[in-house]
Amino acid sequence: MKLGVNVDHVATLREARKTVEYPSPLTASLIAQYSGADSIVIHLREDRRHIKEKDAFLIKETIDIELNLEMSLNREIVDIACELKPNKATLVPERRQEITTEGGLDLFKEERRIKSALKKLRASGIEVSVFIDPNLSQIRKAKELNLTHIELHTGRYAEAKTKKRRGVEFKRIYQSAKFAHKEGLFVSAGHGLNYENVRRIARINYIQELNIGHSIISKAIFIGLPLAIEEMRRLID
Ligand code: PXP
Repeated sequence: MKLGVNVDHVATLREARKTVEYPSPLTASLIAQYSGADSIVIHLREDRRHIKEKDAFLIKETIDIELNLEMSLNREIVDIACELKPNKATLVPERRQEITTEGGLDLFKEERRIKSALKKLRASGIEVSVFIDPNLSQIRKAKELNLTHIELHTGRYAEAKTKKRRGVEFKRIYQSAKFAHKEGLFVSAGHGLNYENVRRIARINYIQELNIGHSIISKAIFIGLPLAIEEMRRLID
């Protein structure tokens, strides 16, 4: 199974202080590349709260693995994507006030805007995926739109408060992945996956790729903290 590493939250940390040089999402992308990631995932949000255009172009120019750009249907962002030419563009819904992408894209409601974005992105040679809730009617609609790739939203599974709820959400993901795979779609999944909940999802053979960000960057802080403190201690001493 492929692993896409989302480096947005390295940029979140940079933006918290508006430091220019560090921490660099480009450096994080290179470390991810050398550590076994199959692709780098970035979300260029309309409000540019973490990743900026400059990061996106630097990463695209430098890495040797695939770049997956998460993006809204906003016209300006679509134009930037056409110029950037990531290997894959994943269409996601976006609301300014949200902390993170809260639900899947509704392919029925957004059909007109999706078709217009698809036309432009495809003309630029970009493979397009859509981030959708694990729901069979959304998958059928993806097929109708001639999409070849989908990403199933695992957020509800990840956030389930009870074992029973988690079981129900898991089943939705499993059945959706099975159906989408049977329909010939490349199936990715992601959102909220962490070191506790990933294994069950990774066992679903119908899923070909997982995209994970927040939990990896969070883990990296604690794995790296002892060395970071020792180095500062040495400099002071
Ligand atoms: N996939 C998509 C489409 C997303 O929007 C996100 C969040 O940016 C992720 C995967 C990664 O989610 P997380 O940071 O919770 O691992």
